[in-house]
Amino acid sequence: MTLCGWVDSYRDHSGVLFIDLRDRYGKTQVVVGPDSGADNQQLARSLRAEDVIRVVGKVALRPEGTTNPKLATGEIELRANRVECLNKSATPPFQPGAIDLPGEDLRLKYRYLDLRRPVMQQTLVLRHRIVKTMRDYFDEHDFLEIETPMLGRSTPEGARDYLVPSRVHPGEFYALPQSPQLYKQILMVAGYDRYVQVARCFRDEDLRADRQPEFTQLDLEMSFVTADDVMGIIEGLVAQVASTVLGHKISLPLPRMTYDEAMERFGHDAPDLRFGMELIDVTDLAAEAEFRVFRAAAEGGLRVRGINAKGAAAKYSRKNIDDLTAWVTQDFGAKGLVWFKVEDDGKLASPTAKNFEPGLLARIGERLGAEPGDFLLFVADSFEVTCKALYGLRKRFGQELQLYDPQAMHCSWIVAFPMFHYDEESKCWGAMHHPFTAPLPEHLELLKTDPGKCRAQAYDLVINGSEAGGGTIRIHDQQVQQSVFSLLGIDAETAKQRFGFLLDALQFGAPPHGGIALGLDRWVMLFGGLDNIRDCIAFPKTQKAADLMTGAPSEVDAKQVRELGIKLDKKS
Ligand code: AMO
Ligand code: AMP
Repeated sequence: MTLCGWVDSYRDHSGVLFIDLRDRYGKTQVVVGPDSGADNQQLARSLRAEDVIRVVGKVALRPEGTTNPKLATGEIELRANRVECLNKSATPPFQPGAIDLPGEDLRLKYRYLDLRRPVMQQTLVLRHRIVKTMRDYFDEHDFLEIETPMLGRSTPEGARDYLVPSRVHPGEFYALPQSPQLYKQILMVAGYDRYVQVARCFRDEDLRADRQPEFTQLDLEMSFVTADDVMGIIEGLVAQVASTVLGHKISLPLPRMTYDEAMERFGHDAPDLRFGMELIDVTDLAAEAEFRVFRAAAEGGLRVRGINAKGAAAKYSRKNIDDLTAWVTQDFGAKGLVWFKVEDDGKLASPTAKNFEPGLLARIGERLGAEPGDFLLFVADSFEVTCKALYGLRKRFGQELQLYDPQAMHCSWIVAFPMFHYDEESKCWGAMHHPFTAPLPEHLELLKTDPGKCRAQAYDLVINGSEAGGGTIRIHDQQVQQSVFSLLGIDAETAKQRFGFLLDALQFGAPPHGGIALGLDRWVMLFGGLDNIRDCIAFPKTQKAADLMTGAPSEVDAKQVRELGIKLDKKS
C-alpha cells in the first residue's frame, strides 16, 4: 500500500516509531520499526506535525491488545518499507489533530489548518451531500438550474446592498444580489416554469450566529402553482435530505401553523417545536388582581402572559432569578418579571404572592397547569414585549433544562404572515417579505381597509427553531401590485426606477407564480447539529464581515480608485 498525507502525531517507543498519518479519509497508524531499515527510521525520527509524507508498506493486523476501537482503522497498521518526506511544514500555530481548539480568530486566519480537522472535513462532506441530494431531487422533478448575474441592480430583500462601482460608467454602481428574486420572476415570464439555483447572496446587515454577509440559497421558482404546491415540493426535499444524509424518516405532510398562532403560542415566528412550554395568556385574570402591575396592564390594553417551566423551581435560586429578571429587562425591554414557585401543597409562593388574593392565585396556577415543583414566570407589557421576553425565556429554559433531544429534527411551516409591518418611527408600512408578495385572496379588501390585518400567501420553513427557508406566491396582477406599492409609499416614479424592468416584464403574459429560498448554510448547520454558521462555510467572514485569512476587505491602489472615478473621504 502507498499512503500519502500529513503527520497528525508521532511517538517513539524505544526504537519503534508510530506515526498517525492523516488525510481526507481519516487516520492510519504507520509503524517504522527496526525491520523498516535504519534510513527510514532516521527519516521518520526527523518528522514533525503537519509534514507531508508518503509511506510505502504492508497493511497488517495490529498485534493483539493494541487495537484501537475508537479509530475506523484501529485494527490495522501500515508497516513501512519506505518513508518519504514530500514537504516539511513550518511549526503550525495550532495542531489540527489536537483536542483543544484555539480561539476562532486563529482558526479563521489559518483556515487551511482548521479545514484539516476531521470535524470540518465532515461538515464540508455533509454540505456536499446535501447540495448533491438537492440537485438530484430537483433534476428528477424537472427543474432547470439557471444562473443569474452577480452584477445587477439593487434587489428588494430589504438589507443594505453591497455595491460595485463601474469603471466604464463613472459614478454608477452595480449591486450584488441580495437574492435572485427579480431574475427568477422574470424567468417565469420567460416560460421556464421550474427554475432552481444554488445562488450566492450578499447582504450588508448586522451579523449574528446564523447570518453571514455572503451566504448561499437553494433558490427556486415555479409557475402555475399555489402555496401548497411549493410547500409540497419542499416537503419532499426535506424528507429526501433527512433520509439520505441522516437516515431519519420525516413524516409528511409537515405540520403548519399560522403566524398569528405562532406569536400567540410561542412569541416568535420561528418557534422551536421540539418542546412545549407554551405562552399562556392571563390578562383576564390579571384584571381582577390587586397587584398593581398586573391590573394596570390589563386595564391599559396591554397583555399579561406567562410560561410554566415544569419541575424547574428547585433549579433557580434567588440569585438566578435576579439574573433572569435583569436579562429580560435589558435585552427585551420588559419592565420586570413576576415569578412563583409551586409548593408541595400546590400554593404559588414568591415575594409578590402577598399582593394577590389566594383564590385568584390558584386560578392563575390552574390556567398554567401548575403542579408542585413548577416554576411560573409572567411578563406584563405590550404584545410585542411579552412575545420577545417570554420567547427568550422559553428558549433559554429549553437549553438550560435540556427539554429536547439534540438529535431530534422538528420541521414545520409557519404560514399566513402579515403583508406589512408598521414602522413607528417613520410612520410607514414596510413589506414583511418583499413588495411582490401576494395577499391571501380573501384578504384583498383589507389592503384598502386595514393593511395591518392583511395576511400574505407566505410560508417559512422552520427547523428546530431556525428559519430554514422562506417564500411566497407573487402578485401577477397590476392593480394589486399598484395598491401594495402605494401602501409601501413607493410612488409610480420610484417603482419604475427601481423595478421597472420587472413591472414591464409582468405586462407581457406573466403566469401566476411563486417560489421559495432555503438558507443552505443554515441547512448544513441544522443537519450537522452545529451552532455556528461559520463552521458550515469553507471560507466564512467574521461577525465584522472580515476575511481574516486573506485580509479582505482591504485598501486598494489610489490608481484603481481614480479609475473608478471615486474620491475617498479618508477614514477619521
Ligand atoms: P429570505 O430573505 O427569507 O427570502 O431568505 C431565504 C432564506 O435564506 C436564509 N438567509 C440567510 N442565511 C445566512 N445568512 C444570511 N444573512 C441570511 N439571510 C437569509 C434564511 C432564509 O429563510 N427571495 C426571497 C425568497 C423568495 O421569496 O422566494 C428571499 O431571499 O434561511
Ligand atoms: P415594582 O412594583 O415595580 O417594584 O414591581 C414588583 C415586582 O413586579 C418586581 O418583581 C418586578 O420585577 C415585577 N414587575 C414590574 N413590572 C412588571 C411587568 N411589566 N411585568 C412583569 N413583572 C413586572
